[in-house]
Amino acid sequence: MTVADALRDRRSCRSFTDQPLAPGVVDGLVDRARRTPTAGNCQGVEFLVLESGEAAAYWDTTLSADRRADFPWPGLLVAPALVVPWGVPDRYVARYAEADKVRTGLGESAGDWSVPYWLTDAAFAAMALQLLAVEEGLGCCFFGLFDHEAAVAERFGAPDGARAVGTIAIGHPDPSAFRPSGSVDRGRRPLDEILHRGMW
Ligand SMILES: Cc1cc2nc3c(=O)[nH]c(=O)nc-3n(C[C@H](O)[C@H](O)[C@H](O)COP(=O)(O)O)c2cc1C
Repeated sequence: MTVADALRDRRSCRSFTDQPLAPGVVDGLVDRARRTPTAGNCQGVEFLVLESGEAAAYWDTTLSADRRADFPWPGLLVAPALVVPWGVPDRYVARYAEADKVRTGLGESAGDWSVPYWLTDAAFAAMALQLLAVEEGLGCCFFGLFDHEAAVAERFGAPDGARAVGTIAIGHPDPSAFRPSGSVDRGRRPLDEILHRGMW
């Protein structure tokens, strides 16, 4: 499978079987995903991996009993693994205070960064993780944390300031329960609408 194949065939999967992943599969995916580029090579992306009971604790933290009752994607809740990539701003600030980066002026405070590279890098890693999951024959879905980021950080002990870009559910797809999101009906915008050659 090529990268182009994985991108073409990939679809967000929100229905999983309860079949567990083989031991070491998620660690292997993370090990490969962490090879994406990072600003200043500071490698400030860290991955919270939640399996079985820990994944259940994630849902207890983010999905109230009320919302769970009519949650439209019950098959998402049985995904055997959840991975949350976090960007750690302190690592970026410290790296950009080093001699070869200090002239950027970004080595004092995360608030000075017009583009928070810890989020850029975490998003790169999140995409790589999804492509690697597809390559492995697994299903996956990236979804937002919305206003639950702080609760997840506290529940699972993420360090102060760490930012999560979202969560990736990974598992064996359950095709019998496949139900695309309403967003998919939007279709794909034509290339000439999004490609601005030479001028917007
Ligand atoms: C930044 C981002 C946030 C997303 N948040 C959610 C989400 O909260 N819930 C969800 O079901 N899907 C979420 N998605 C998945 C998108 O809905 C999905 O990628 C899009 O509809 C295209 O469908 P496809 O991935 O099957 O091609 C998110 C995707 C991205 C990139």
